[in-house]
Amino acid sequence: MSQPPTGPRPADADSVLALMSRHRSIRAFTERPVDDVDIERAVAAAQCAATSSWVQGYHLLQVERGARRDALSLLAGDQAQVREAPAFFVVCGDTRRHRRAAARAETSHVECTETFLLSVIDASLFAQNLVLAFESMGLGACYIGGLRNDLPGVDEVLGIPEGTYPLFGLTVGWPADDPGTRPRFAPGDVWTKDRFPTEEEIDATLDRFDEIAARYYVERGEAGRNWTGAIWRKFKTVLRPGLKRFYESKGASLS
Ligand SMILES: Cc1cc2nc3c(=O)[nH]c(=O)nc-3n(C[C@H](O)[C@H](O)[C@H](O)COP(=O)(O)O)c2cc1C
Repeated sequence: MSQPPTGPRPADADSVLALMSRHRSIRAFTERPVDDVDIERAVAAAQCAATSSWVQGYHLLQVERGARRDALSLLAGDQAQVREAPAFFVVCGDTRRHRRAAARAETSHVECTETFLLSVIDASLFAQNLVLAFESMGLGACYIGGLRNDLPGVDEVLGIPEGTYPLFGLTVGWPADDPGTRPRFAPGDVWTKDRFPTEEEIDATLDRFDEIAARYYVERGEAGRNWTGAIWRKFKTVLRPGLKRFYESKGASLS
């Protein structure tokens, strides 16, 4: 029987899928440092993520421990893991290389909603590949959306250049806890063929998932909580107003 010439063998797929399914955010780390050699290997692999039109529109800023890290930790909602993680990164959308390419050609670089989205999508694909790469080495990681609590404050700490859009942080280190995996919707809840789910189907998803989440919370000693309650509370007000203003102050155009 003929074999495909390239691509992972089934055994590799099993281990990759198992690694992905074991993901859980790690928020407490041992003191063991994360080696630059491991970071470079992970970054190189993460860069192999697909990138819109090959634009590679992202930048990864590592911030070492110290006063600047402490300040970022406070700005991100006083999250101890930002202060304490052996490695901390700020994942940014980045259009500076595109701008320089235009400047060197003595032409203009036009920012628009699409160029902003390209950088956000590219940065997110890169970041998730990076997390998987770290996890494949036994390291743990946690995204830090709290970085967007106060981007002008982050700018004061880091001096964000024009054309750079800080999106989220990432703590990385050797796990000091094992919080277990968090449940997700069933694949069929997020995957349909040729049609979108009906409202009734969405209601059924929510009912099923509230039961699953309620059990998860009970196991964690947080009885009485469910998923839909957390969600409607989260989204009943405007979140982090001022993001458009900040990103536009760095050269994005979101109109
Ligand atoms: C973009 C993004 C931002 C996040 N920001 C934070 C954060 O600021 N602090 C935190 O403790 N967890 C943060 N998380 C982690 C999520 O809370 C976590 O991924 C989610 O609850 C699912 O849990 P799991 O990753 O363990 O499966 C963030 C996750 C993502 C994807």
